[in-house]
Amino acid sequence: MSVVRVEELARHVGETVTLRGWLYNRRSSGKLHFLEVRDGSGIVQCVVFKGNVTPETFTAANHITQESSVEVVGSVKEHGKIKGQHELDVKEVRVLAATTQEYPIGPKEHGTDFLMDNRHLWLRSRRQHAIVRVRHAIIKAVRDFFDGRDFTLVDAPIFTPNACEGTSNLFQTDYHGDPAYLTQSGQLYMEAGAAAFGSVYCFGPTFRAEKSKTRRHLAEFWMVEPEVAFLDLEGDMKLAEDFLSCVVGRALETRREELKVLERDTSMLEKVIPPFPRITYAEAIDLLQKNGHPEAKVGDDFGGDEETVISSRFDRPVIVHRYPMGLKAFYFKRDPGDDRLALNMDVLAPEGYGEIIGGGQREDDLGKLEAAIDHHKLPRPAFEWYLDVRRYGSFPHAGFGLGIERTVAWVCGLPHVRETIPFPRMLNRLAP
Ligand code: 4AD
Ligand code: MG
Repeated sequence: MSVVRVEELARHVGETVTLRGWLYNRRSSGKLHFLEVRDGSGIVQCVVFKGNVTPETFTAANHITQESSVEVVGSVKEHGKIKGQHELDVKEVRVLAATTQEYPIGPKEHGTDFLMDNRHLWLRSRRQHAIVRVRHAIIKAVRDFFDGRDFTLVDAPIFTPNACEGTSNLFQTDYHGDPAYLTQSGQLYMEAGAAAFGSVYCFGPTFRAEKSKTRRHLAEFWMVEPEVAFLDLEGDMKLAEDFLSCVVGRALETRREELKVLERDTSMLEKVIPPFPRITYAEAIDLLQKNGHPEAKVGDDFGGDEETVISSRFDRPVIVHRYPMGLKAFYFKRDPGDDRLALNMDVLAPEGYGEIIGGGQREDDLGKLEAAIDHHKLPRPAFEWYLDVRRYGSFPHAGFGLGIERTVAWVCGLPHVRETIPFPRMLNRLAP
């Protein structure tokens, strides 16, 4: 008798199979016990009919506790009511390990703090399972996109000697007696990588000691960062929109069921097709002034509220480009048409989600980059290696970073990023 997974049941209709998993839910009606069993690939209803099993088995089935591990033998048939689903006519059911105490997460409503404290268990629930599966599909699509375009994967280090995105949110640690920082971004390393391999990307965890509690900030998040030699801002925007539409398309294609579990209205996601609307920062300020933010003025940075206003004016992601240099990191190239502006871009997701991609064209002039490092009061010695990329055959180049968690929140339609990563790290949370 073959051991099968729930997701494979459709291929075994009429056969007797063995299934191993955990009891998700149980209800009874006289001669029938309905056991919902989950095995990681899905949840299946196992019907225990009094006439089909021994009296001992029938009684025992009514006492299996939630999340006990079980082995069920039964024949596979189409679900009585739900088309496309299958159920098991149980012949035997055996408890492998009963729970030693009551499972803390029941059908009743729990507070988020409680669920987060029990994150290691909460991951077993239907919604969390669906979210992690969407996250996996998005990550696979990210890799497939760049691999398919012959980008070379260049892994960036986690311990770094220098800041990339400003010094205000660095996690500092001790590296054999010297200060070191957990990486905020692999970008600087990707720029060196672009000179070695042309088109590169890194994908890994990045860290920001964000002091603010918001629905879009994590202390540890995953970022994919492509960097391309001889690419300008225009090309960068094109790459970002091709990339994002491909990733969203793949999630829609491969995770329909999960998005259904999450009750996601996917009609907005279906519209994520290039070209995306593009507006300048100045136009974005204008748009804010006309839509409830009369106080908005050039020089303001956008917070969550402003991004929500801007992004909700569009039915697909919008690219905002050319912010004032003063708002941006040291490495951006200045717009040759107006050197107060950076050749940068942010992609804001619709439905109020806001920035999910940040990037742009890098300063490739050695002298200007040295001046920018000094202007930002960054320690020059720590950046000498980075300046070498300009000393030895400088070249125009551009890239961006996409935050996985914000992307998952948007695709899944979640109000907060905390559920988009298996074990979130936030201002007040380091456990479990
Ligand atoms: O805009 P950011 O800070 O850009 C960079 O780090 C560049 N060095 C990337 C590059 O050009 N290679 O971050 C990029 C993206 C944001 O758009 C957002 O999606 C995500 O990373 N992000 C965060 N996600 C969750 N929590 C945080 N604290 C985040 N900070 C940034
Ligand atoms: Mg940004």
